[in-house]
Amino acid sequence: MHIAVLNGPNLNLLGEREPDVYGRATLREVETATRERARALGVECSWTQTNHEGELVEAIQGLRGRADGAVINAAAFTHTSLAVRDALLAVRVPFVEVHLSNIFAREPERRHSLLADLAVGVVTGFGAESYRLGLEGLVKHLASRDGR
Ligand code: DQA
Repeated sequence: MHIAVLNGPNLNLLGEREPDVYGRATLREVETATRERARALGVECSWTQTNHEGELVEAIQGLRGRADGAVINAAAFTHTSLAVRDALLAVRVPFVEVHLSNIFAREPERRHSLLADLAVGVVTGFGAESYRLGLEGLVKHLASRDGR
């Protein structure tokens, strides 16, 4: 099973960016922990971060035929990007939406996701653990769907 983890804008600054909101773990540390969990689950994992909407769209388009599922933190594009939504609608790869912060406890404009209704599920508010929880939930979902 291959799971792609896709990260949107400003997540490259984790660790130094608003640590009271996003915690002190760097994106590299989140990646290492997620890859370790994937290995323990016997799952292949790829990792991408981009600050550019078009690159995120292309990464989603590239999932078709290459990934069984995706863990996606689209960051601010979660709340703004019909292009990201359309890409997810086009490829129809099962994904879990994750956020470090609890987007429902933040400013009104962050409380709405343009992606969530397309997701298998959403994990929001557990800091770096959101990625692990999202990965575990997705792998279980795919395994039970495939009768494994
Ligand atoms: C975020 C929440 C978004 O609202 C914000 O734009 C981010 C990070 C999170 O992981 O908590 O960049 O997706």
